[in-house]
Amino acid sequence: LLFLLLLLTCISRTRSGDEPPLDKGRVPWLGHALNFQRDAAKFLAEMKKKHGDIFTVCAAGHYITVLLDPNSYDAVLYDSDSLGYCGQKTLQMVFGLNLTNHNRAEEKRWMGQCFHGAKLESLSRSMYRNLQVLLGSAEMVHNLNEWKEDQLFNFCYSLLFKAGYLTLFGTEHNSSDRELATIYKEFRTFDGLIAKLARSALKSGEKRVANSVRKRLWDLLSPPMQSEIGAACSWQEDYRQYLEDSGVDKETQRRAMLLQLWITQCNAGPAAFWLLGFLLTHPQAMQAVQREMDSLQQQAPASELPYLDSQGSTPVFDSVLSETLRLTAAVLISREVKQDVMLNLADGRSFRLRRSDRVCLFPHLSPQMDPCIHQEPEKFKFDRFLNKDGTKKNDFFKGKSRLKYFTMPWGAGTNVCIGRDFATSTIKQFVFIVLTCFDVELSDPNSSMPPPNTVRCGFGMLQPKGDLNIRYKRKALL
Ligand code: HEM
Repeated sequence: LLFLLLLLTCISRTRSGDEPPLDKGRVPWLGHALNFQRDAAKFLAEMKKKHGDIFTVCAAGHYITVLLDPNSYDAVLYDSDSLGYCGQKTLQMVFGLNLTNHNRAEEKRWMGQCFHGAKLESLSRSMYRNLQVLLGSAEMVHNLNEWKEDQLFNFCYSLLFKAGYLTLFGTEHNSSDRELATIYKEFRTFDGLIAKLARSALKSGEKRVANSVRKRLWDLLSPPMQSEIGAACSWQEDYRQYLEDSGVDKETQRRAMLLQLWITQCNAGPAAFWLLGFLLTHPQAMQAVQREMDSLQQQAPASELPYLDSQGSTPVFDSVLSETLRLTAAVLISREVKQDVMLNLADGRSFRLRRSDRVCLFPHLSPQMDPCIHQEPEKFKFDRFLNKDGTKKNDFFKGKSRLKYFTMPWGAGTNVCIGRDFATSTIKQFVFIVLTCFDVELSDPNSSMPPPNTVRCGFGMLQPKGDLNIRYKRKALL
């Protein structure tokens, strides 16, 4: 009966004069759900062509207004009175986590402090040490003179996941090579199912796998027994204590650890993959980055790798990272409309949003892939974010107006990535160690970058459909 009522509401909905263009699709209730899920970027680009910068689509019974004018994004990002968080249902479906009574704003503040100032510096240094240890391990360098074959995505993801896990979750009890390999394997299985989990689109066999892998990860992430006095303190333990102090029950604490593992580990590995992949397939970019890294190495004391933080002066690398993220970061920022509200756009138009609809921003399409902002947006240009004099470029325009948001890989407003400085220094350190200490090349010099797996579009960093075969050999002692 409820479904019939929903169906009726969907069929009968019409656009009123002050609302955005409405596109219900051909199939009642289902609307555009399948195209949206299959390839959000392609679907939204088609809708933008048809309707312009703002439109409302129906998808599986939901009405979603999509805004694609970056000059108007602040109207959504900073209206917390009428637009609210709508992630609770996803948290429940994906992580089995109910945090309805939890103060999210307070938790964000707590998280912000962890990845800022002296704490950030200490985590970044710990990450650097862990990366050096993992990249210098016997597994990586067991035979100095021979090339080792690998696939670039697995190479980047496994190393950054393991180093990130050791840095944030590691204690003396859970950090052996075998445990790291186990947790990485389970995590990748879970991560591979996450888009389907969030959309309730798992087949029955996949559902079983998802449930059991989630349970194993909850167990693996459970803190050591309290009786084990002397267990080294980790960021995870601080977070558990924070939840305990906020009155969160033990089972919810266990489940929240998997959410944090995913948030902190799911983006850096894929970002490093795209970045190294673009360098390996664009020799001019590789030479420019290598020149910059060589000069940093020369300034450091002999036989020492310099520690690089996110603020260190590496304009070429920074431009390469921005360009990589412009092409491959694809978060969908989503809000629930709590009450009818007028949305005022930068060009002077206003549109009414209806209560209990959703409103979404998709920065991947605009500003990041917008040809009016970035020329030949589909091309990787390593110096896109550099001025002619080699300094960082911040001036980008749409028409005559200078843009506040010309690329948004880290989100913005209350949806901004809290770990962005940590992520930047991590990726910089990783690329620096790999390029300084290893010869890395494509197994087939003619290979090109694999396309993205479009099903993950909207979930943060894209992942490739396929991989790049590489070979590497150690060139200097770490
Ligand atoms: C949130 C991007 C790496 C910690 C976010 C959001 C984006 C993002 C777009 C907002 C998501 C939303 O609100 O819908 C990225 C990218 C990364 C990266 C592109 C790497 C290239 C990291 C790392 C950490 C981290 C390494 C920490 C170790 C967080 C946290 C949040 C967040 C704590 C807040 C989640 C919340 O709303 O509670 N990130 N991130 N991120 N990110 Fe990142």
